[in-house]
Amino acid sequence: MNVLITGANRGLGLGFVHHYLAHGWQVWACHRSECEALKGLHSDALHTVCWDVGENTEPQGLLPDKLHLLINNAGVYGPGSGGQSLDLIVPEAMLEVFNTDCIGPVRVVQRLKSSLIAGQAAIANISSKMGSTGDNSSGGAYAYRAAKAGLVIVSKSMAVDLQSYGIRVVTLHPGWVQTDMTHQTGLIDIETSIAGMTQVIENIDDYELGQFVAFNGSIVPY
Ligand SMILES: NC(=O)c1ccc[n+]([C@@H]2O[C@H](COP(=O)([O-])OP(=O)(O)OC[C@H]3O[C@@H](n4cnc5c(N)ncnc54)[C@H](OP(=O)(O)O)[C@@H]3O)[C@@H](O)[C@H]2O)c1
Repeated sequence: MNVLITGANRGLGLGFVHHYLAHGWQVWACHRSECEALKGLHSDALHTVCWDVGENTEPQGLLPDKLHLLINNAGVYGPGSGGQSLDLIVPEAMLEVFNTDCIGPVRVVQRLKSSLIAGQAAIANISSKMGSTGDNSSGGAYAYRAAKAGLVIVSKSMAVDLQSYGIRVVTLHPGWVQTDMTHQTGLIDIETSIAGMTQVIENIDDYELGQFVAFNGSIVPY
């Protein structure tokens, strides 16, 4: 079985790499910058591809002809420390986060469409509860919330548009996880999040088309 993961050199992306290698999959691990952690894995089942999902350039490295699973994981938060408040957020920051977190997965699916069809793949788009209007009681985070909300919409359209090819799509919330993005302040560790998300992916047929699901299997209000 073949899986491709974006943003795979650290954090949750690297967690997915560990999981699928341990379960005997062939793993295409995509990274835009350094990949020391990937090089250290020394596995014949690991294929690295240099791919910045925020750019329109061709990925560097061999891609598989057939994919059974795509995980659109790469993402950025944007300005921290109150830099996304209503007073401080700037259009450039909003556009940059939107380009990576929402347009990135569209670029990736466009580029991989024939391989996804060949493998009748599942697609997991990693959004965030912060992209849920139903869950937003604290405001702020303009760039990140908007980009992740956009991804929920994009993900649903992918689910509808690709259904006739036998491709299933789920939108995931990983939980609040201890990674660089949260400055290691999350409530759960990477292993817990990955164990939950991979379980949801395995049971993707139990969920409605393009449904927004948290790592623990609960449905995220949108
Ligand atoms: N951690 C959480 O609590 C949490 C909660 C909800 C959702 N999420 C989402 O989960 C995903 C993974 O987050 P994380 O916590 O693992 O974050 P992280 O530790 O900051 O890692 C982010 C990963 O995305 C990659 N990336 C960023 N921009 C990219 C681009 N333009 N092209 C390719 N790769 C790019 C980074 O690569 P570089 O090393 O090159 O920067 C890195 O590998 C993100 O989509 C995030 O929004 C995380």
